[in-house]
Amino acid sequence: MKITVVGAGNVGATLAQRLIEKDFGDVALVDVVEGIPQGKALDLRQSANVLGFTHKLVGSNSYDVTAGSDIIVITAGIARKPGMTRDELIGINAKIVREVVEKSLAVSPNAVFIIVTNPVDAMTYLALKVSGLPRQRVFGLSGVLDGGRLAAFITEDLGVDARDVSPCVMGEHGGSMVVYPRFTTVKGKPLSELVDEAKQKALAERTVDGGAEIVGFLKTGSAFYAPSASIAHMVNAVVADSGTRMNCAACLDGEYGLSDVVLGVPVRLGRRGIQDIIELPLNAEESAALNASAEAVRKMIAALNL
Ligand code: NAI
Ligand code: 2OP
Repeated sequence: MKITVVGAGNVGATLAQRLIEKDFGDVALVDVVEGIPQGKALDLRQSANVLGFTHKLVGSNSYDVTAGSDIIVITAGIARKPGMTRDELIGINAKIVREVVEKSLAVSPNAVFIIVTNPVDAMTYLALKVSGLPRQRVFGLSGVLDGGRLAAFITEDLGVDARDVSPCVMGEHGGSMVVYPRFTTVKGKPLSELVDEAKQKALAERTVDGGAEIVGFLKTGSAFYAPSASIAHMVNAVVADSGTRMNCAACLDGEYGLSDVVLGVPVRLGRRGIQDIIELPLNAEESAALNASAEAVRKMIAALNL
């Protein structure tokens, strides 16, 4: 396997570290800033002797090193500063994502694309349109990270083991994201049966604001440890062709009664990308929340003027 990570910033470089340390395959790290991908890749390579990984890792400003990749992860772009929403990044990041998709697809025509750059739902839609690839091969990071945040808050509040939490966060990776207590379980029991509605609401609100809470602390950038771990989990499913179920930003074509919009939904991931989209039996209130989230993403897609 060969995995390309475009963007050697906080998320991209930390992801490159996680991928090479897991020894999934060869890794190519690309960025526009001269010296950054080369320096970070060189630094990482010098840990092989003590960590024991065997695959190759290169850093470059050229897409030549990415040729023949099986997976392209796009983290290139600008990140949020305090007070900024993910949506405010759209103009600059749309230009960057378009360029990255075109350049990387030209040398890796068979790759699966994982989009990370925000606003990720609109950027995934853009990548899908620019690439012309089937929707199975272009999907984005959202629910694994947002679910990881919900799981962390449940772990802290309920004093349970994080491994026993199976979170379900769907919809936009943004203000309209939807936490589903009926489909979030702790040791197989729904969260809706474990805590009262006020607690469910508080956990959901903290999850929706999870990214902003970290931006508020860091001030100069946004989260990257949990994001890179979440992407590595997605990459692992593709590399292993495991069919592992997780929530990702996927383009819908009739699922949940929605079409031509990218939204976080449960999927199974394998070697060719999305194997299938899982439709949960949402009640009327839960469906209405997902529809509202779809509308929010549609507005951002419209702003792309595709
Ligand atoms: P960062 O600023 O640390 O890194 C971004 C990197 O992209 C920089 O090194 C920059 O030089 C590079 N870059 C800019 N234009 C480029 C181009 N045309 N080609 C190649 N590289 C280019 O930002 P960070 O923290 O790594 O975040 C990256 C993106 O991921 C942001 O848009 C952020 O909002 C998003 N993000 C999305 C998450 C999600 O759940 N979908 C989670 C975390 C971050
Ligand atoms: C996050 O949720 C900024 O989307 C990024 O941390």
